[in-house]
Amino acid sequence: MGHVPVALCLIYGGKMKPDINALVEMHDGRGWELFGRYVNPQLACVVKTIGFAKNYVRADGPYLYDGEGNEFLDFLAGYGVFNMGRNNKTIRDELHKALDADLPNMVQMDTPLLAGLLAERLLSIVNQTHDKTGRGFLDMVFFTNSGTEANEGAIKFVRKATGRPRILSWEHAFHGLTTGSLALNGNKEFRKGFGDLLPGCETIPFNDLTALEDELKKKDVAAFVIEPGKGVYIADPKFYTEAESLCRRYGTLLVADEVQSGFGRTGKWFAHHHWGMRPDVVTVAKALSGGYVPIGAVCYSREIYDKVFTDMEHCVVHSNTFGRNTLAMTAGLAAIEVMEKENVAENARIMGEKLMDGLRSMIGRYEMVKEVRGLGLMIGIEFGEPKSFSLKAGWKIVHAVNKGLFGQMVVVPLMCDHRILTQVAGHNVDIVKLLPPLIINETHVERFLTAFEQVMKECHRFPGNAWSIGKKLAAEAIKARQAM
Ligand SMILES: Cc1ncc(COP(=O)(O)O)c(C=O)c1O
Repeated sequence: MGHVPVALCLIYGGKMKPDINALVEMHDGRGWELFGRYVNPQLACVVKTIGFAKNYVRADGPYLYDGEGNEFLDFLAGYGVFNMGRNNKTIRDELHKALDADLPNMVQMDTPLLAGLLAERLLSIVNQTHDKTGRGFLDMVFFTNSGTEANEGAIKFVRKATGRPRILSWEHAFHGLTTGSLALNGNKEFRKGFGDLLPGCETIPFNDLTALEDELKKKDVAAFVIEPGKGVYIADPKFYTEAESLCRRYGTLLVADEVQSGFGRTGKWFAHHHWGMRPDVVTVAKALSGGYVPIGAVCYSREIYDKVFTDMEHCVVHSNTFGRNTLAMTAGLAAIEVMEKENVAENARIMGEKLMDGLRSMIGRYEMVKEVRGLGLMIGIEFGEPKSFSLKAGWKIVHAVNKGLFGQMVVVPLMCDHRILTQVAGHNVDIVKLLPPLIINETHVERFLTAFEQVMKECHRFPGNAWSIGKKLAAEAIKARQAM
């Protein structure tokens, strides 16, 4: 006992041999308390307030299970990482094999085989709609540990490759929360108070080719970065191809942030495949490892590579420690196999259409359901101010307290009454976002539609249960704000 560090003794209750199962059992039910004390008290407070503080003990496919054996349908999929379902067995088995093989990992001064194999496989998928001639055929992959790190890499690459200082992105867009990606975010709530971010980053109005061309004409824009994710804003199909032409005309690189929209989420391998685009850079992350291991990738052209990694002296001018690690590469290769064998993207397209058809059929029947938009299984349900007098009053009260509270009035009963996990799409918006695993079937779609309709019925009765939840959430929000 004398040599065992005190912290280990505390965690393992004096046992010398680490045992994750025993540890979890020993501390069962303490997640909220410990997370709230040591990791993020504010998040713990939100989770408790909206009734999401569950003691999940197991997960499988589209389901989470709590300690009492209750089953929850997961329409959030860890922010879109579990495209092939939670704890996918094929990917898990491959990871077990890689662990058991005692493979050399992160030798660093070497050229790991698995990184080369995954890069080759990934590029063959990204390039599916590209021919080998001209711009937009991607030859290289830089592996990262997250989506934001992939976007940070893309930012550096486009600045170095073009020698230009400015980067444009869309209003509403989300590209990550490190200082470079954050400078591209269209959402000021995330930026406020963090000081000056990367200079030269500006947002342009959504779906506006004239505004884009006005900026590109100045010929100082390194890249235009797009993503259809946050709030599920998808531009007119012609915007995408014309934006690409404009970028080509003015020497600007086009970056597709496919961190969330990639890997089958929209019903095709990548969202830009819907419009036959050929971006110069494609960033990928989230589902690339099937949710098991942090991963990300910047796919880009040899031309850009040559301008960044100019000679042997600069072979690691952009680099990281964990990017090409064995487990991430193994999971990535296995995830691609699962995607292909199980036709996961096509299932996302079919289930997405069913889900959106069902939701859209509610637009006329429930006046606050304003719009249902999406591609595949990336779906946004936007709510709007009602016309009827009593509902209007409730809407106004709720919005006076918090502009994003109505979305919570939908998300909370979906969870508390129907055991379905969803999220609001961001700050100050009346949008609920659905990101289920792509392996869901018609039964899951039906279960969601029935539950959602029930919640809509409640929301369209004023006064009623839903508005009481709104009132309770508003009171909690005021209390929390006062306590800060
Ligand atoms: C489009 C997009 N880009 C980038 C990111 C950031 O990825 P990460 O959270 O892995 O840093 C996200 C995360 O949600 C995203 O949706």
